[in-house]
Amino acid sequence: MARFTGKVVLVTGGTSGIGKAAALAFAREGARVVVSGRREPEGLAVVEEVKKAGGEAHFVRADVTKEAEVKNLVAQAVARYGRLDVAFNNAGVEWTGPITEVTEADYRKVFDANVWGVLAAMKYEIPELLRAGGGAVVNTSSIAGHVGMANVSVYIAAKHAVEGLTKTAALEYAKQGVRVNAVAPAAIVTDMIDRFVGGEDSDGGRGLAAMHPVGRMGRPEEVAAAVLYLASDEAKFTTGVSLPVDGGWLAQ
Ligand SMILES: NC(=O)c1ccc[n+]([C@@H]2O[C@H](COP(=O)([O-])OP(=O)(O)OC[C@H]3O[C@@H](n4cnc5c(N)ncnc54)[C@H](O)[C@@H]3O)[C@@H](O)[C@H]2O)c1
Repeated sequence: MARFTGKVVLVTGGTSGIGKAAALAFAREGARVVVSGRREPEGLAVVEEVKKAGGEAHFVRADVTKEAEVKNLVAQAVARYGRLDVAFNNAGVEWTGPITEVTEADYRKVFDANVWGVLAAMKYEIPELLRAGGGAVVNTSSIAGHVGMANVSVYIAAKHAVEGLTKTAALEYAKQGVRVNAVAPAAIVTDMIDRFVGGEDSDGGRGLAAMHPVGRMGRPEEVAAAVLYLASDEAKFTTGVSLPVDGGWLAQ
């Protein structure tokens, strides 16, 4: 039997990149998937792709920076499929620049999406996971949650916060059957990397690829595989960890 048959999975930032790859992978493994994001056409296209492959999915529009929308998202997921077993809190935004050029608006934008977005999601997801008799949360951190990097201060700080939230939530619910882990990707070929370095085939892209010991960037599907592992019963003794999916970056 597929690993997620009978399970209901919620994915934020599911309209593109890593979230989309995870939504498709969960659906292939039998889950009913609630795909969430801010962009309705992209979200509906992911749902269509799942359904074409014989899976089940539903789109709910939500901006994770808005608590009322996150609350509604979780309520809609449960209204649609009756329960919640897995939450993949993946929505996030990037930021680059020297510390001397950070604005308060940059800080708020990145922390609202990457930190408050994860915290607010867990606030409403965890009660539903408990109602379902236990479950799993996977948050998208980054290698930027493990080490510093020059000229990425706001993003580095936000992803370090995701690491702290993941560990804390894991400890709060360890005895109640809710596991909380994170994935920590290095550079993955998505829209975000296109915005960050100007694409895989640009000078910036080639330079970034060369910074990985394996000599290349990762693929969204390679992160999705780690997310599914952490969300599955195969990882039932694993909680509070952040799993690097990084081509060896953090081993350096
Ligand atoms: N691509 C990388 O190299 C990389 C590396 C490490 C971590 N990450 C993290 O992976 C996650 C997914 O990013 P990606 O690489 O797939 O890029 P992406 O830009 O394709 O995906 C990010 C998704 O989050 C959504 N999003 C952003 N703000 C939102 C908000 N306020 N409400 C709802 N949705 C929102 C975006 O619309 C998008 O769908 C992010 O958390 C990112 O920080 C990416």
